[in-house]
Amino acid sequence: MSHTITLIPGDGIGPEVSEATQRVLEASGVKIEWEVHNAGAAVAEKRGTTLPAEVLESIRRNKVALKGPIGTPIGKGFKSVNVTLRQELDLYANVRPVRSLPGVEPRFEGTDICIVRENTEDLYAGLELMIMPGIAQSIKLITERSCKRICEYAFDYAKRMNRRRVTVVHKANIMKLSDGLLLEVFRKVAMLYPAIEPAEVIVDACAMNMVRNANKLDVIVTENLYGDILSDLGAGLVGGLGIVPGANIGTSSAVFEAVHGSAPDIAGKGIANPTALIQSAVMMLHHIGETSPAERIERAVTELYKRGEVRTGDLGGAATTAEFTDALCRMVAAG
Ligand code: NAI
Repeated sequence: MSHTITLIPGDGIGPEVSEATQRVLEASGVKIEWEVHNAGAAVAEKRGTTLPAEVLESIRRNKVALKGPIGTPIGKGFKSVNVTLRQELDLYANVRPVRSLPGVEPRFEGTDICIVRENTEDLYAGLELMIMPGIAQSIKLITERSCKRICEYAFDYAKRMNRRRVTVVHKANIMKLSDGLLLEVFRKVAMLYPAIEPAEVIVDACAMNMVRNANKLDVIVTENLYGDILSDLGAGLVGGLGIVPGANIGTSSAVFEAVHGSAPDIAGKGIANPTALIQSAVMMLHHIGETSPAERIERAVTELYKRGEVRTGDLGGAATTAEFTDALCRMVAAG
């Protein structure tokens, strides 16, 4: 069976890691027809918008997209395309498995955390204004509906993946109403899943716990901003942004993308590590029911890292993106 999937190559290192990922998918034998669409600053120059309507239409039609990173200007300029996509398509759950790979020196052996981040609200709602010169306000929006569905998603995920514990990460000691609402909803949802242990931790303590012993954590459920920061921290614990994948899941569509950004410092040099997007594509294959090619790629990634002969620069090696991809494709094809 062939699948039609939207591909947004993105900018910076996006096109390089997207091409590598397409090649690995092809080597796995899965049949995919790509609908390629661009978004971001370069598109805005020609089209007057960073996110043309046909990109959203394509994802709505195909229900699945693979996406490279897209840069967002800091402090000024257009709104993040990534945030807009998540809000427009109501991709409410951002799932980021933080796992160590064999041979990559993690801070702790066998780290295996999954961060489930609420993806549509919080300070990312983009509700900002200058009240008067010198005074800026940013509104943190948290609704009961979003808290409920993200907590349910986290517990369902834990159940499906045979995980033991779900920890809610919050700052309800200070933000008593907004983070307090998440905590209150979490406690109610947790009662419906008696087989899974619920736990609560304040975000600053969570950051310290992750650095001291990440293996004490299992599934984390949290708000948008805390989830963003903790997933980069998690990436740092297992070898860096080059390897951590992600999925944005909604009720009717899903967009798979790495945790990392467009890495302008290495863009165009052909040295980016494509592993994170490849692992995001593996999540995508599981999502569309292509378990066999997904497992084939997973086995090949594990084996390639275990052998340790071919590594990109972020992990101390000298391989280019193309050399790494060639080696992985050979391993995938060998089965
Ligand atoms: P970044 O993740 O792009 O880069 C941080 C550091 O990690 C850089 O030194 C970079 O070279 C390295 N790195 C990242 N991915 C790598 C890979 N695959 N292989 C090797 N090294 C890698 O974060 P930064 O610099 O804060 O953001 C750059 C741009 O990306 C910004 O415009 C930001 O808005 C955007 N961004 C987009 C995201 C998305 O599309 N979902 C997510 C995060 C950031």
